[in-house]
Amino acid sequence: MTILYDQQRSLFHLQARDTSYVIHVTRTGYVAHLYWGKKVRDVQLERLLELKERASFTPSTELDQLSLSLDTLPQEYPGYGNSDFRMPAYAVMLPNGTTVTDLRYESHTIVNGKPALIGLPATYVESDEEAETLELTLKDELTGLLVVLSYTVFNAFNAITRSARIVNNGEETLQLQRAFSLSLDFAHDRYEMLQLSGAWTRERHVHKRKLEPGLQAIESRRGSSSHMQNPFIALLSEGATEDHGDVYGVNLVYSGNFTAGVEVDQFHSARLFMGINPFDFNWRLQPGEQFQTPEAVMVYSEQGLGGMSRSFHDLYRSRLIRGAFRDQVRPILVNNWEATYFNFNADKIESIARTGKELGIELFVLDDGWFGKRDNDTTSLGDWFVDRNKLPNGLEDLVSRVKRLDMQFGLWFEPEMISPESELYRAHPDWCLHVDGRRRTQARHQLILDMSRTDVQDYIVKSISDILSSAPITYVKWDMNRNMTEIGSALLPPERQRETAHRYMLGLYSVLEKITSSFPHVLFESCSGGGGRFDAGMLYYMPQTWTSDNSDAVSRLKIQYGTSIVYPVSSMGAHVSAVPNHQVGRMTSLETRGNVALSGNFGYELDLTRFTEEEKVAVKAQIELYKDVRHLVQFGDFYRLLSPFEGNETAWMFVSKDQSDAFVVFVSVLQEPNPKLNRFRLKGLDPNRDYRLQGEETVYGGDQLLYAGLATPQFNSDYASKVYRFRAVE
Ligand code: DGJ
Repeated sequence: MTILYDQQRSLFHLQARDTSYVIHVTRTGYVAHLYWGKKVRDVQLERLLELKERASFTPSTELDQLSLSLDTLPQEYPGYGNSDFRMPAYAVMLPNGTTVTDLRYESHTIVNGKPALIGLPATYVESDEEAETLELTLKDELTGLLVVLSYTVFNAFNAITRSARIVNNGEETLQLQRAFSLSLDFAHDRYEMLQLSGAWTRERHVHKRKLEPGLQAIESRRGSSSHMQNPFIALLSEGATEDHGDVYGVNLVYSGNFTAGVEVDQFHSARLFMGINPFDFNWRLQPGEQFQTPEAVMVYSEQGLGGMSRSFHDLYRSRLIRGAFRDQVRPILVNNWEATYFNFNADKIESIARTGKELGIELFVLDDGWFGKRDNDTTSLGDWFVDRNKLPNGLEDLVSRVKRLDMQFGLWFEPEMISPESELYRAHPDWCLHVDGRRRTQARHQLILDMSRTDVQDYIVKSISDILSSAPITYVKWDMNRNMTEIGSALLPPERQRETAHRYMLGLYSVLEKITSSFPHVLFESCSGGGGRFDAGMLYYMPQTWTSDNSDAVSRLKIQYGTSIVYPVSSMGAHVSAVPNHQVGRMTSLETRGNVALSGNFGYELDLTRFTEEEKVAVKAQIELYKDVRHLVQFGDFYRLLSPFEGNETAWMFVSKDQSDAFVVFVSVLQEPNPKLNRFRLKGLDPNRDYRLQGEETVYGGDQLLYAGLATPQFNSDYASKVYRFRAVE
């Protein structure tokens, strides 16, 4: 049993693999949160609820129990207005214009398995034995408002998922002003909050801050999860490190506007919250209607950040990502974007693909510029038919030329967008997000299709499906290159305009579900100017994401390291590009560009035909190496060894699940004269086995590599790197 219920003590004890989560219903029906952390036995856990009588600025909720105040009670789904002054998880405007509600326990069910979230991406189980789900129903007596809180605990992972369903069971229309996916009260504030923040070409840098009284939060108001903030935060207990200590990570399975943060109150309790951003959000709930929040995934680790990341990686690789590619090694690709930009023809494409084949590459991807009249970024988004000026014999001909080389063929789309200069826009000027009478703000000369409309959704499904059916295409890059402005829909009534941003996401998810399930043999990679929508929501539909438009090997150290805090390495696209690098102008060696890109879904994004013979030999060796290690990179356990945020050196490694096979990548950014001697320790190996280092006859004890480590390599140039391949000696 993973969910225990003791009726007498009104106690729910949820148990994921090594994790406990404890809920208690108070005498008067408030749903209190008692504990989340390392698994504990059930010995009077209700004692964890300590109530203290406070001053009058902390109102008592029950006249006969002065110590019970909602303002101090740790709660599972707090409201605002009837004595809790902290951050509420939900807010509902009632027909009388007020927002005071009072949710109390009504009933609960415990079921095997994990029910799906209708219309939203979520983790799943393949058999009901893998998990149990608790549904707690809370009710506001006066209005009939119901909130159903769902908790799923996985037997095999230290993961618990949460979501909430708000049901209008009353007789009048309600306005939902906020509905978080989770709210979690911690008894104290002795934590650091970690977040992944950045910008376009500088995504998911690791930032940490000590919790302080008041609010610390991140959010997106951009209509997508964004380059700037990722829908993830972790709390690190005092002294927690990469390998040790309690870490609590929460990640939202959602790709739109979100907020996540922690409020520290007057008694230094910390309330963590996460969900759809209430900013500019309002949802009308008519009698009988319900609203489903996205899912939040919670991972507890007692093995520091590294343990937390590996739990997220295992869960997401096996129970978030779906489809045929979930368990398949991913192809090595060459993409023509940085090789040609918009300037290509079929011969040029074929020559890049031919060289790719010679070098051992498996998939050619034709990026932007093959459709409409798209010679630059000012036109044609929405016109998903081939540009006969560029490709006079059509797409089918080009695909067959590439296929004849025994290469797979992939294609770029940006389906959610519309160029004002397009046939589609001339035919349907009201199909974009817009507000009547206001400017339609362009970014990269484009507007955003209103995905909340079913006619728009149908158009996208049909036009993309037609292309995918017209030729043997086995990979799609699904791009999205701007954020939302003038978020209004021509079809929604005034009172529903503030539903547009979330309705857009529901429309997008529905389109993705249709297209990805109709083309199960196609590998989908999501992209939003690189990593502007690198989130668990997109991973549910598309098993990999283009990590960043910045392909510089040095910049990529921080971007890939930060991304790995939550997302599995098998979800990160990583390519070798040309030097000087097109984003930062840096010169780095082919070897280091390769070694950094090898730590992801490997590929090239440059004109392969320009390689010298010597470079071709090196590239062939890189590709062979990747073919040898990709099962480790994509499906092994990932260990971070040295952080690019803490020093000049970065190292990480991949270990097979049976600990017989390992691959280590070490990169030094700037060279020091007369460098100091140093060692770095490996992780994840079996201390009782010996490992042979490929290329040498040397054998190392696993214990030696773990506890004494390897000598830090010495280089004589900047941006230098080295990889190590270890195999256990049988
Ligand atoms: C942004 C993407 O991130 C790039 O890789 C490329 O596909 C361009 N869009 C094409 O417009």
